[in-house]
Parts: sequence; structure tokens; C-alpha cells
Amino acid sequence: MPLQWSSDLEVGIFELDAQQKELFSRFEAFSDDIEKEHGHNGVADFIGFLDRYAHEHLKYEEHLQDKTGFPGRDEHRTAHRHFMDELESIKARMNSGGDTKELAFLIKGMLIRWIITHSKHLDKEFSDFLLAASEKAEQEFVKKRLGEILVASDLVSRATLERALERQKETGKRLGIILLEMGVAGKEDISSALMVQEGKSRFTKKLGNILVESGLITYATLEHALENQKCCGKLLGTVMIDMGVLKIEEVIDAQAIQKGMLKMDSPALHGGTE
Ligand SMILES: [Fe+2]
Repeated sequence: MPLQWSSDLEVGIFELDAQQKELFSRFEAFSDDIEKEHGHNGVADFIGFLDRYAHEHLKYEEHLQDKTGFPGRDEHRTAHRHFMDELESIKARMNSGGDTKELAFLIKGMLIRWIITHSKHLDKEFSDFLLAASEKAEQEFVKKRLGEILVASDLVSRATLERALERQKETGKRLGIILLEMGVAGKEDISSALMVQEGKSRFTKKLGNILVESGLITYATLEHALENQKCCGKLLGTVMIDMGVLKIEEVIDAQAIQKGMLKMDSPALHGGTE
């Protein structure tokens, strides 16, 4: 269905994807209500949702476009401004004329245009750009040395790797065997690193470690968040937003780093653009 959410629209950043999916599902419910002749009762509520979408989702998307250097960001930002202008004009009509059926159809038309020309076209270009960056970063890990993959994945510290490599020179044994003998890595850790090396599995650095290394949170805060996460099953980033220790943009940046869309040494988690 042309106006429905499809997984190829995902950018792989949880918050952005969740907000976008909500737009599609809220729009579908709104359209159904209009068809059932009682739609205009939900106009004020839907406008309220669109206002939040415009001030949150579009802002976070622009934030990530700036951070990743997305080449189409100027054109994209112009389209966002146009959507916000249209929304302001709809809000003005609502304030002066109330939530009429005519207004409901006006909003529906605006959303159909938005989904076809923006969500399914310009947003898809951004999603493709992010996924290509992620794929490129992933490829850089294929054929990397086992020790480097283990360090980059936070499974082994740099100092431990150096001790293991020294021992390897003395014994001639394979690195994985030495790390197992030293008791510093488990069989599963070695197997997962080998899978990454062979290109059979994705490289992932833990989100919590990215946040600690960036200096945004302390290790104690991470432990506290992991404890809080146990009770509710939420994603770690969401738990930390709820705890008030992180802003949503910081979690988005950390996820982008985790997926290789941003580099750790970029200004991502240290200020930068709005
Ligand atoms: Fe967009």
C-alpha cells in the first residue's frame, strides 16, 4: 500500500523510526475516522500530534543530517520548513473556524502529499545514505585482525590484547587460544569476533560503552541505568532519557556511532550543531 509504513524506510535509529511509524499509524487511523463520517472530532488531537512530530521528529532528523554531513540536507530542511508553514496555516484555520470536516480533509490531503513526496522519497534518500555509511563501516571490520575486533567490541582491553600478543610471540599459539587460557575472553566472545572477521555477523559496540567513553555518563550511571532496565525491558537509551541523564539527541548520536553512521571522534557527542 503506497501510504503505509514499510521497513525499507527505517534508518536504523530507534527513536526516529518509532516516531515515523507513529506518523503512519496515526494518519491511517485519522483517515479511517474521516471515512466513517465522524473524523472531524479527532482533528484537534491529530493537529496536536502533528505539532509534536514537527517539533521533535523533524528536529532530530535535521540534527542527524548535520552530524552525518548528509549532502541533501538543505533541500530536506526546506521541505521541513514548508511542512511546518502548512501546519501553522492549518492551526490558524482551526483556531478561527473550529474542527470542521472540511479542515479534516485539508489535513488528509496535506499528509498524503507529505508521505508520498517526503517520507517515501526524501526521507528514503536519507535512510539510504545512513545505511550505506553503516555498511561501509561494517566492511572495514571484515578481515580486520581478531584482536582489533575484540578491542573495538569492548570484549578485551588494549592492555590485555598486548599481553596476549606478547604471549603469542613466545608460544606461537593462536590468539583466540591464548585469550581463553588467560581467562580474559569467553568462547562466545571469540566466536562472535571470528564471525565479524569473516563478514558473517555485524560488528557492534555496546551503547553504554560508547556513552561512557564519550564522557556523557559515568560508569556508575551506566550501572544504575542497566539496573533500572531490568525491571521494565525498555531500551537502554530510553531508560537514560527517562532518568533525565541524557537528551534524545545524545542517544540518537550514540546509536548512529554504534551503527557506524558516525565516527566516535566526530563532534557527535560533544556539542556541534543544534
Ligand atoms: Fe524528513
